[in-house]
Amino acid sequence: MAKANENFNRLKESYLFIEISEKIGEFVKNNPGKPLIKMGIGDVTRPLAPVVVEAMKNAAEEMGVAETFRGYEDTGRGYLFLREAVAGYYSAMGVTIEPDEILISDGAKSDCGNLSDIFSDDNVVLVTDPVYPVYNDANLMGGRQVVFLNSNIENSFAATPDESLKADIIYICSPNNPTGAAYTTEQLKKWVDYALKNNAVIVYDAAYEAFIQDDELPRSIYQIDGAEKCAIEVCSLSKTAGFTGTRCGYTVVPELLELELKDGTKTTAQKLWRRRQSTKFNGVSYPVQRAAQAVFSEEGQKQVRDTIAYYQNNAKIITSTFDKLGITYTGGKNSPYVWFKCPGTMSDREFFDYMLKTIQVVGTPGSGFGKNGEGWFRLTSFNTAENTTEAMKRFEKMYEQF
Ligand code: MLT
Repeated sequence: MAKANENFNRLKESYLFIEISEKIGEFVKNNPGKPLIKMGIGDVTRPLAPVVVEAMKNAAEEMGVAETFRGYEDTGRGYLFLREAVAGYYSAMGVTIEPDEILISDGAKSDCGNLSDIFSDDNVVLVTDPVYPVYNDANLMGGRQVVFLNSNIENSFAATPDESLKADIIYICSPNNPTGAAYTTEQLKKWVDYALKNNAVIVYDAAYEAFIQDDELPRSIYQIDGAEKCAIEVCSLSKTAGFTGTRCGYTVVPELLELELKDGTKTTAQKLWRRRQSTKFNGVSYPVQRAAQAVFSEEGQKQVRDTIAYYQNNAKIITSTFDKLGITYTGGKNSPYVWFKCPGTMSDREFFDYMLKTIQVVGTPGSGFGKNGEGWFRLTSFNTAENTTEAMKRFEKMYEQF
C-alpha cells in the first residue's frame, strides 16, 4: 500500500480559515435570521478597477481570434510585458530589479508554500510567532525543523533577530499578517545583517506593502542594502488590486542570491526556482496577466489607490473605536489588519464565540496564528464601509459588558 507523508501528522487537523468557515456555517444553519458581518479572513469586497476589467476583456477577445490567440507562455516566468511593469513599480520605489529576476505566479500563498521545494530538508526554518500559517505548515509538510521567535506586545509584535536562535531560512511578513505591525528600515536591516552573517535566506512576504502610509517605512526588503544577496520577495495583487478571486502575484529572486550544495559548490536560488516552476506550474492565464499589467499603469495605480484608501478608511473606523474604548491594538495604519487584546481574561476562542453570538461579527482568534496569539484577536478592514461602521457600533455596545 502507498505510504502517507507522515509529516502531515505534525499539522493541526484543519487549516485555520477552513476551521473558521465551518464554525460560521454551523452558526448560520442554526441562526437563519441573523446575518453576519465577516471581518475574519482577509478577503476583499471592492470590485476590480475599471481599467483592469477593460484589459481582461480585451485580452479575452484576443484569445477568441486565431491571429492573436495564445497557448502556453513559453518563458515559464510570465509575460515580459508584466515583468517589465513590475520592474517599473520597483523602480518608482528606488529599487532596481531586472524583469528576469521576477517570476509571475498565482499569488503569494502558493509561492510562500512552494518555495520550500528549492531548499534542502535539513535547513532550520525560523518564523515569528504569531505567524501566517502557510510558512509553518509548508515547512512541516516538507519535514523541516521550524523554530519560533516570539513576537509580542513587549516588542510591539515586530520581533528582531535573536543571535542565539540559528536558522537557515527565515520567513518575514511586513506589514505583518496577522498583527499589522510594519518593520522600520532599522529593524529590517537587522534581519538582513543577520541573514548575511549567518548565510541564511529571508523569504519576505510583502503582500500588504501597498497599505503602508508612513513614507519612511520600507515597502520592499530590497530598500535595504545587501538584501539582493540574501532575500526572496513574494508579493501579490490580491489585497493591492482585489485579485483574491482573479489570482496573480509575483516573486523576485535576485540573480545574486546563492545557495550551497552538499559538495560545497554553489547554485542560484533563481535557477532552482525557475526549474521548480517550469516543472510544476504552467503559469497564469494571458487575460489575467494583461489585467495585472493594467494595475501598474498610471490610471491603474490611481484606481487601485482609491480602493486601498477605502479600506484604510475602514481600518480607521475600527481603530477610532478601539481608541475610544481604550483597547490595546497594533496595525490598522499601515495594514488592513487590526490586532487587539481580548477583554479581561477571555480567551480568543471564547471571544470569537461571544462576538458571533452577541453581535454576529466574525473575526479571527489569535491563537490560530500561534501561541503568542492567545488572548489576541484579528479584524480585517476588507468589508464594506457600511458593514464596518455597523460592526463597530455593535462592538461598542457589546463592550459595555466588559
Ligand atoms: C488571511 O486572512 O490571513 C489571508 O487572507 C489569507 C490569505 O491571503 O491566504
